[in-house]
Amino acid sequence: RKIGVLVSGRGSNLQSVLDRIADGYLPLEIAVVISDKADAYALERAEKAGIAAVAIPRKECVSKEEFEGKIDAALRAHGAELVVLAGFMRILSGNFVNKWTQKIINIHPALLPSFPGLDAQGQALEYGVKIAGCTVHFVDEGTDSGPIILQKPVPVLNDDTEESLAARILVEEHKAMPEALRLWALGKLEIQGRRVIVHP
Ligand code: GRF
Repeated sequence: RKIGVLVSGRGSNLQSVLDRIADGYLPLEIAVVISDKADAYALERAEKAGIAAVAIPRKECVSKEEFEGKIDAALRAHGAELVVLAGFMRILSGNFVNKWTQKIINIHPALLPSFPGLDAQGQALEYGVKIAGCTVHFVDEGTDSGPIILQKPVPVLNDDTEESLAARILVEEHKAMPEALRLWALGKLEIQGRRVIVHP
């Protein structure tokens, strides 16, 4: 099964997928890595792995439609069957999402529906929750609102800073995304309305 991965920055989630493909846990092929930022380190990680790495800078596009059109074309040109958002920091339009219905998976560093949007880790810390975490979900037209595939809890400690909490959550993200992708690759995910049934 071929996937396309959208990134914006450091690419540690991409790296976790690359590593799990390499060790045989993930029966998948990354066909292309696409970034909205030309200088994203994630693109270097893709190149090192011999994977097509495509920069589609948002600022070089006159509109969101043109930007998303280029992303869509690159995904299709490389035969992607699933779109994985791994540290991708743009909101995809309903128009784009509807071209890839139930074929876009995102990871969010909070236990949705709590703390959607940016700086989720900081939101959790400020709110004072005792359990934070991450969520892997299918992307729908909303923001961080699609059917949830899996979640991982992360305790919040008394002396946590946003950085220490984010780092602890990131460790779980690097387990969660590969786990979710393996379930998808093995055809074990069934969407029933808002719920995702995970078959054994
Ligand atoms: C991660 O916390 C991810 O959940 C969020 O962006 C952060 C950076 O991800 N969306 P990565 O290291 O670029 O994969």
